Amino acid sequence: MSTSAHPLLSIRGLRAAYGHIEALKGIDLDVAAGEIVALIGANGAGKSTLMMTVFGRPRARAGEIRFDGQDITHTPTHRIAHLRIAQSPEGRRIFPRMSVAENLRMGADAAQASESERSADLDRVLALFPRLKERLNQRGGTLSGGEQQMLAIGRALMSRPRLLMLDEPSLGLAPLIARQIFDAIRTLNRQDGLTVLIVEQNANHALKLAHRGYVMVNGLITLSGNGAELLERPEIRAAYLEGGRH
Ligand SMILES: Nc1ncnc2c1ncn2[C@@H]1O[C@H](COP(=O)(O)OP(=O)(O)O)[C@@H](O)[C@H]1O
Ligand SMILES: [Mg+2]
Repeated sequence: MSTSAHPLLSIRGLRAAYGHIEALKGIDLDVAAGEIVALIGANGAGKSTLMMTVFGRPRARAGEIRFDGQDITHTPTHRIAHLRIAQSPEGRRIFPRMSVAENLRMGADAAQASESERSADLDRVLALFPRLKERLNQRGGTLSGGEQQMLAIGRALMSRPRLLMLDEPSLGLAPLIARQIFDAIRTLNRQDGLTVLIVEQNANHALKLAHRGYVMVNGLITLSGNGAELLERPEIRAAYLEGGRH
């Protein structure tokens, strides 16, 4: 864990747009080293855009993004990956024709790790997701949805991230598989101190997992606080937990 005073990720006044659709209208968000932070909100709120803007796609129109104190607002996308910020994007996007092992190697290539580091990282990922171990030579595209999500997270981990950003990792998964994914994230955070920013429509799971949460509505943060406290808020229960589709 970092002992520095500044958060690992710090976002201030962030605005981004697609043409004249304003997706982010001035976002402030912090993720401290060692923290799990959840970003929740309905479909179309701007959650994915916020994550992608950290990678410079789309570019910020205003505001500032700092990673470990360094201003990365205008840093080119390919250089941001070298800062060891990893992303498992919405919809997983593994390489379907490559084997599980090859997909994981793609993640390791980004890290420029030594052979022994790679092999230790691989052991760690396979211990976390034993299902992948049984399927190392199978093509990614033949895996179940849950296994593909495990592979996407495993590939991101192979890049030795300092910050892992996950976009809706439980989307479309059976409850039991979703729970395994959330348990793995909790384990990574507790054992390795991995810092995680997780986007979820499943507010219940996400806020139980996270130390802190932010609620996003129409491109703005409307609420933030301790995960357990947010879960008890009546407006959260009404909007995201009770009677809703989640
Ligand atoms: N590539 C795009 N082009 C145009 N509009 C987009 C694009 N991606 C997202 N949007 C719009 O930006 C807003 C925020 O979308 P998004 O960040 O995907 O929300 P969320 O991830 O919370 O569902 C929505 O109004 C959406 O329609
Ligand atoms: Mg999204």
